[in-house]
Amino acid sequence: MSDYIISIKNLYKVFGKDPKKAMQRVHHGMGKDELLEKTKHVIGLNNVNLDMERHRIQVVMGLSGSGKSTLIRHINRLIAPTEGEIWVDGQDVLKLSPEALREFRRFKVSMVFQKFALFPHRTIKENVGYGLENQGANASKLKTTCEHWINRVGLSGFENYYPNQLSGGMQQRVGLARALATDAEILLMDEAFSALDPLIRTEMQDVLLDLQNELEKTIVFITHDLDEALRIGDNIAILRDGEIVQTDDPQNILMNPANSYVSEFMKDINRARVLRVRAIMKPLEEGDKGPIVKGSTTIETALQLLAESTSDRLIITDRRGQQVGRLTIEDLIRGMRRPTSAEIQADAQAEAQADVQTQTESTVH
Ligand SMILES: Nc1ncnc2c1ncn2[C@@H]1O[C@H](COP(=O)(O)OP(=O)(O)OP(=O)(O)O)[C@@H](O)[C@H]1O
Ligand SMILES: [Mg+2]
Repeated sequence: MSDYIISIKNLYKVFGKDPKKAMQRVHHGMGKDELLEKTKHVIGLNNVNLDMERHRIQVVMGLSGSGKSTLIRHINRLIAPTEGEIWVDGQDVLKLSPEALREFRRFKVSMVFQKFALFPHRTIKENVGYGLENQGANASKLKTTCEHWINRVGLSGFENYYPNQLSGGMQQRVGLARALATDAEILLMDEAFSALDPLIRTEMQDVLLDLQNELEKTIVFITHDLDEALRIGDNIAILRDGEIVQTDDPQNILMNPANSYVSEFMKDINRARVLRVRAIMKPLEEGDKGPIVKGSTTIETALQLLAESTSDRLIITDRRGQQVGRLTIEDLIRGMRRPTSAEIQADAQAEAQADVQTQTESTVH
């Protein structure tokens, strides 16, 4: 049985002067555009139901304005719903007393923000310790915990620097360390890596995945980037105009997009187009049969081929046509989600070798 730590039930959020009244129209099926036109009310969320598993990364993705931030802010009640329920670890978040809500925000959930939201006049150490101070930690606990997390996110030596002395990626490491230092079970990350340039962003994804392997938090991670969603999500919910259009594991979202809105996102997959099967292939086993492809075939093409074939695996050949490896559909999807740096390196090496070989061949002939 699945263990859901966060359950969102029939959640609606309407922004405007009289949301309750506008809700009647929403219940009668009025959509976002029409409601806005007729009543000047904005649908933020429209009947969202979502259960999130403990110790997993739940990604929420969707275009700008689809309701991602509105949704995540309901989880720690920075926003109150127009209708619906939010349950976190057996607690009805809407029924928490002001005191209980403060406790909940101090101990149970922490947030990592897109713009880092560090205190400019506090040092890195003081920034990391902020949530802990709020929890009432004593000086020695503060010191050891801050040191631990600063070290864990790779910022040892920067304890007494100020945020503006650090690069964007380093600042977000501070944001992450600050969130982790409180030992909260749930991390809410709203586009936490979106402000970073692509290389640093990938690096931060690695940092997060690495930490998650060890810490097993429950993470709600918002992004509008499919590549990022596939890379880090255990489950992905896709929002459009405040409604969830699909929620599933990355594999199923990829293979069976619910509609054209979802498949539209698929255009953004880079990895599948870039990575070649030779980088992730497995050793050939006796009796392996299936469509034969060259090692230079992209994962995307390989997936298409397999989807159209009746076989459950592909056979990979080297440049001489020798059968050297195989891949199942699971291998391909895994390869697409989380290629390790070793795989990327292997691909680069294979490419370099192939180039040398081609040059030699053309010299010989
Ligand atoms: N305080 C508010 N008052 C009125 N409308 C709002 C308010 N906050 C959000 N909205 C509207 O609710 C909808 C969802 O907004 P939200 O910020 O949740 O989207 P988002 O998916 O996070 O977008 P982005 O990717 O740009 O951050 C949008 O149409 C937005 O204009
Ligand atoms: Mg947002």
